[in-house]
Amino acid sequence: MRTDGAPAMERTFVMIKPDGVAAGLTGEIIGRIERRGLDIVAIRKGGMERAVAEEHYVEHRERPFFGELVEFISSDPVVMLVVEGQGAIVAMRTMMGPTDPQDAPPGTIRGDYALDVGQNVVHGSDGPESAERELALHFGVLVAA
Ligand code: RTP
Ligand code: MG
Repeated sequence: MRTDGAPAMERTFVMIKPDGVAAGLTGEIIGRIERRGLDIVAIRKGGMERAVAEEHYVEHRERPFFGELVEFISSDPVVMLVVEGQGAIVAMRTMMGPTDPQDAPPGTIRGDYALDVGQNVVHGSDGPESAERELALHFGVLVAA
């Protein structure tokens, strides 16, 4: 529950992962973001170089699934978005649902469109610091206010 008034305007980094793009879910996911009232400030589709994927997921570099994760993210095209709005970081994480789609309720993106933790359709920054870092990594000066 919020106790400190309306959340601030903020930007977050969202990515439709290769499985989501391949399944034709780009429009559906963008539609959900827009209908929620969030603004798509920038959008880019393309392959993510392995080195960029390694940097994106650097917090997980010691985890056993890191190699597989980087391989998957850099395997096929992704759609990268800069999403803006009040409390956009938490709003996107709530819309995405839990990391493991097996735990994700219907109505969330992962709960509606995924089954496997390794192929969970969408990424969203998990806090203000990761949003800033990921926006700079993938969009650079384009996201400067
Ligand atoms: P993401 O960064 O992709 O938005 O996902 P997340 O915050 O919900 O989850 P995170 O803990 O950051 O994990 C990043 C991605 O690693 C894969 N993963 N696999 N095999 C496993 O146990 C496992 N755990 C995590 C997932 O694809 C997750 O999205
Ligand atoms: Mg994460």
